Amino acid sequence: MIKSILFVCLGNICRSPMAETIMRELILERGMADQVMVDSAGIANYHEGERADSRMRSHAADHGYDILHRSRPVLEEDFYKFDLIVGMDSSNVRDLEYKRPADSESRIEMVAKYVTPPQPCPDPYYGGAEGFEFVITLLEEACENILKHEIL
Ligand code: 4NP
Repeated sequence: MIKSILFVCLGNICRSPMAETIMRELILERGMADQVMVDSAGIANYHEGERADSRMRSHAADHGYDILHRSRPVLEEDFYKFDLIVGMDSSNVRDLEYKRPADSESRIEMVAKYVTPPQPCPDPYYGGAEGFEFVITLLEEACENILKHEIL
């Protein structure tokens, strides 16, 4: 059973803050907020300190979610602090494997492991509204399965 989970995407303003918010909500509903640490971070630091993308926040609000996170890059200490690090796509996972210190015990997985059929969470940044909706649908399924298979 894992006690801490970090979601990672490229900019940490769309997909991973959405995943963090969904996961936190599920954990709250289960009364486990004091047992599981959830956070998100980005491979890149272009958006450091910014709130999530306004389009992502607006779609999130339509589904009852309030994204409070501010963007931050993945740090070396994250590889010691988090039991499970979940990347959104294969490029995120490749970058995480590259950054990960040799003695880190964190497990790195991709969102694809937790959805049927297995697929990455595609970057919605340069696309339209359906991309943001798809991110939410896919991440809700992924977070339910992470809760069931990794946390409970
Ligand atoms: P995210 O989306 O990785 O889901 O946060 C992106 C946000 C920003 C950029 C790319 C993807 N960007 O190139 O600035």
